[in-house]
Amino acid sequence: MSALAKNYSRRKISFKKGKGSFLYATNGKKYLDFVQGIAVNSLGHANSHLIKAANKQSKKLWHVSNAFMIPEGEKLAKRLTQKTFADYVIFQNSGTEATEASIKVARRYFYSIGKPQKNRILCVKNSFHGRTLAAIFASGSKKMTEGFGPKITGFDHFKFEDFNSLKKSIKKNTAAIMLETAMGEGGIKVTSKSFLKKLRKICNQKKILLILDEIQCGIGRSGKFFAYEYSKIKPDIVPIAKGIGGGFPIGAVLMSKKAASGMIPGTHGSTFGGNPLAMSVGNAVLDQIFKKGFLKNVQEVSKYFHIELKKIQKKYPKIIKEVRGIGLLIGIQLFKDQTKFIQKLMDNKLLTIKAAENVIRILPPLNVKKKEVDLAIRIINKVCKNYKI
Ligand SMILES: Cc1ncc(COP(=O)(O)O)c(C=O)c1O
Repeated sequence: MSALAKNYSRRKISFKKGKGSFLYATNGKKYLDFVQGIAVNSLGHANSHLIKAANKQSKKLWHVSNAFMIPEGEKLAKRLTQKTFADYVIFQNSGTEATEASIKVARRYFYSIGKPQKNRILCVKNSFHGRTLAAIFASGSKKMTEGFGPKITGFDHFKFEDFNSLKKSIKKNTAAIMLETAMGEGGIKVTSKSFLKKLRKICNQKKILLILDEIQCGIGRSGKFFAYEYSKIKPDIVPIAKGIGGGFPIGAVLMSKKAASGMIPGTHGSTFGGNPLAMSVGNAVLDQIFKKGFLKNVQEVSKYFHIELKKIQKKYPKIIKEVRGIGLLIGIQLFKDQTKFIQKLMDNKLLTIKAAENVIRILPPLNVKKKEVDLAIRIINKVCKNYKI
């Protein structure tokens, strides 16, 4: 009997090692891993550059308190700000902490300019920003909040990509609009470039801060460093996590100078966030992602993947409703529940994971090889061929 609590429905399989796009199970089988810890292992399993960086740092210094200067964190923050809209960074350990901190940053900004009543956060209905109390109420999803006591107030909701619904939901006291640039858990739904542009405009008009949650779609997954870059707009606050650590727990909030102005000493903190070991791994991830041609390769291989998946959809229009996503954040939406299909893929040694709306989520490492995509395509084709609706 397992002593682990039952808050996950785990598949009955475990792994002894991983290499690149593959996982080696304790049952002796080798699986093509297109889950990668849910978009966490941006460079695949056991990446040699990451191993070297973690090993080197682990022999020198793992942890010191944020009461002291941490050069590895200074370096990572500088690199993140030089490449993006941001002027400042706060490091955390996870995505949900990063979204919580983003909410704090937005509220604290308005407090610091003498408008403490401007504190409401407007989010997309049925979105996903993590599992802490504030983050579940930000999601606007009954499934996530049911049974967890008094409602955490301060959140309003609008419908995904519905500008009228957004306009109606903006209140005098709206401090920030927070949304995923591309929804992950919510069913791989990409916020369009035109909607992001309209969002930026209305935020400017109404003096609202724009928070784009890039925890799942950021750090190269879309084919750009951040998915919002396709729209050419600039957000005010961006929480990140997952891919920046390549498997090591790192979260962060990226902020403009203006948005960060309320965060004076004592307003936020974290014991572990930004420790030397985590920061060294984060820097090693960026060494790879910032390499010339890396993101171009993500764009090319993902374009190929989408084209091939759309061919399968055409061949099996009664099984697959839609192929959607951005870059290597890919969703195959079925007409019916996807559980059985995901099991069949696993029986054929391809690992994928569920998202909302009957979507099968496909998240290869960003350095996936074309021949690995071809293998996945062959498996998906085979499962479709033998699939009984
Ligand atoms: C968009 C988004 N925000 C926040 C989170 C929460 O991140 P974590 O599980 O690291 O707390 C996730 C995790 O799936 C996510 O996809």
